[in-house]
Amino acid sequence: MRSIRLVSSGREMPIVGLGTWRGKPEEMENAVNVALEVGYRHIDTAFNYNTEESIGKVLKEWIGSGKVKRENLFITTKLPNYGNRPSDVERFLNLSLQKLQLDYVDLYLIHMPFGFLLNESTMSPMVKENGEFCLDTADYVDTWKVMEEQVKKGKIKSIGVSNFNAKQLKRLYESAEIKPSVLQVELHAYLQQKQLREVCKGLNVAVTAFSPLGSPGANNHFSTKYNYELNDFPDILGHPEVNEIALKHNKTPGQILLKHLVEQNVIVIPKSSNSERLKSNISLFDFELTREDTDKLDQLDRGEKGRIFNFLFFNGVENHPHYPFKKEEDNNN
Ligand SMILES: NC(=O)c1ccc[n+]([C@@H]2O[C@H](COP(=O)([O-])OP(=O)(O)OC[C@H]3O[C@@H](n4cnc5c(N)ncnc54)[C@H](OP(=O)(O)O)[C@@H]3O)[C@@H](O)[C@H]2O)c1
Repeated sequence: MRSIRLVSSGREMPIVGLGTWRGKPEEMENAVNVALEVGYRHIDTAFNYNTEESIGKVLKEWIGSGKVKRENLFITTKLPNYGNRPSDVERFLNLSLQKLQLDYVDLYLIHMPFGFLLNESTMSPMVKENGEFCLDTADYVDTWKVMEEQVKKGKIKSIGVSNFNAKQLKRLYESAEIKPSVLQVELHAYLQQKQLREVCKGLNVAVTAFSPLGSPGANNHFSTKYNYELNDFPDILGHPEVNEIALKHNKTPGQILLKHLVEQNVIVIPKSSNSERLKSNISLFDFELTREDTDKLDQLDRGEKGRIFNFLFFNGVENHPHYPFKKEEDNNN
């Protein structure tokens, strides 16, 4: 497996990892087992995915039986938006470590630049009666300082952020003692994030693409959980040109979309609970896209119009001072 060297921490991060958002706990155990069997060594989770326990159970079996060494795994988890304040970093990190049954994580990310007040009884965001989320305007620069302390304590190897815009990343970078290793953002053929990736390159921050296949099925999740629907939900896997390129190489559309990112040194974390798709999503290194294929895929970029995750399903989030996708600002430079 190819890996990307994280400049700030000096650690190696496998370029393909397993995404686990929306994985049901019972199916995740099987998925993680299959993933490890077929060669995944990088797993992406988060406190709020409800998959840390299943992952932890499987990791314990694999590490305990000697089938894999802890140092050969790369495990990422994230500080939830309802724990986004200095006083809660260590508590949420400890809870994640406990569920994952690990002494340290390889990468810990601030999940979102904005935060919500915590509902202690449900361990979820506090929401008003009218459905609006209660904003907590703690500054991620202060939260970061506690992330740095956790690195020094040995509980985290690398730290990074997710869903930050370029301005926020630069601001954090300038104040940080330990520079961010990774920015994890939505990135796929319809939202290629070229400007943001240039900024990351300049700062030596590696980029992880979430929803690299366009997150088929997410709309259903948004509508059931948040009563929120995107009218124009993309079907990137079904795009005729992607399918044409796939047919030519005798590969699946998923493999073409992932290969397009990996060949640009973007780390990808496709989620699957299906054995065949788990295998195919990691089998990206026995073929090459031609210049013409790459040009065609580059041209599928729709810029901001391609964004699926604007987080507006968190009712009222657009009023948060750290909401990253405000239209009036140019957040990419
Ligand atoms: N930082 C953040 O805010 C954030 C936000 C979203 C996601 N993420 C992370 O990024 C990961 C990936 O994103 P995602 O889960 O939103 O979307 P994704 O990986 O783009 O798509 C996953 C969906 O595609 C299906 N699938 C997987 N491989 C396929 C293939 N080769 N062909 C056709 N369908 C395929 C999966 O179904 P099956 O399981 O049935 O295969 C699943 O429904 C997440 O799981 C999570 O770890 C992070």
